[in-house]
Amino acid sequence: MDDAEQDPFPPAGVDLDHPSVARVYDFYLGGTANWAIDRAFGEKVLSVFPLLRPIAVANRLFLHRAVRHLVKLGVRQFVDVGSGVPTMGHTHQVADDLAPDSRVVYIDNEPVAVAHSKVLLEQHGDPARHAAINADLRNPDRLWQEVVRTGVIDLDEPIALLLIAVLHVQQPDADGVDVGPRALARYRELLPSGSYLALSHITDEGVPDEVAGKLVDLKRMYDTSSSPVVWRSHGEIGELFGDFELIDPGATWTTLWHPEETSPSAPVVEFATPNESVVWAGVGRKP
Ligand SMILES: C[S@@+](CC[C@H](N)C(=O)[O-])C[C@H]1O[C@@H](n2cnc3c(N)ncnc32)[C@H](O)[C@@H]1O
Repeated sequence: MDDAEQDPFPPAGVDLDHPSVARVYDFYLGGTANWAIDRAFGEKVLSVFPLLRPIAVANRLFLHRAVRHLVKLGVRQFVDVGSGVPTMGHTHQVADDLAPDSRVVYIDNEPVAVAHSKVLLEQHGDPARHAAINADLRNPDRLWQEVVRTGVIDLDEPIALLLIAVLHVQQPDADGVDVGPRALARYRELLPSGSYLALSHITDEGVPDEVAGKLVDLKRMYDTSSSPVVWRSHGEIGELFGDFELIDPGATWTTLWHPEETSPSAPVVEFATPNESVVWAGVGRKP
């Protein structure tokens, strides 16, 4: 049977003319919420830069460790923006393991990601504690209203805002300006005091020379075929935290961020050196 014939029927509004960041990322992680066009692009990328698969897994494992760590710090509310397809453990599953009273709202603007999160929540979620919505992070006030409307999040309590591997996808406004950093500044204002921001982002600073060359190729492939991307320096990623105070150990490579929070059942990802993981990550706390 032709590869495309095995594909699931897509939800309404799905663009199958271009590979989607969310669906290609699902392909890297070994998920099934991807279509022939996504796999063809993903395979092309992996043939040039095979390290991207362990990089994606390491990023996802950072998300898991950050959620666990935040739960241990007392956080019970998570707003996961650009949450993606629920491949390899979704935020509420990780949080529920430690804190069955935790609450999570998922947001994405890719219909497949939202549909799959909804199906998972219908089967294994609690409507009082979990929701998934389709919204665009470029409109922070509108997105925040939608989050509030779910009734899941209490704005008087600290919230962990997750923006994991999202802001290196360019966020163009009508004039083509990348408004990701500006939108994030508004989210930082909207969060109550004592809230947290967990963020990860591809950087081309401090990576091995050979990997830096692959990042140039990777950017060219995404810019011309999927969604344009941007690699930021460590300083530029640090600026995304605004006046939030980075918690220990500060911003670092995904693999080095609280490795002790790794679940015994997590897949093992190995890099020759931590900077091969190319994703710079950290968690900041709003004063
Ligand atoms: C690389 S995936 C990361 C998924 C997940 N956060 C993780 O790290 O495992 C990036 C996600 O951001 C979403 N995204 C990109 N731009 C967005 C926007 N403007 N509004 C909402 N979601 C967006 C994509 O659809 C995709 O699901």
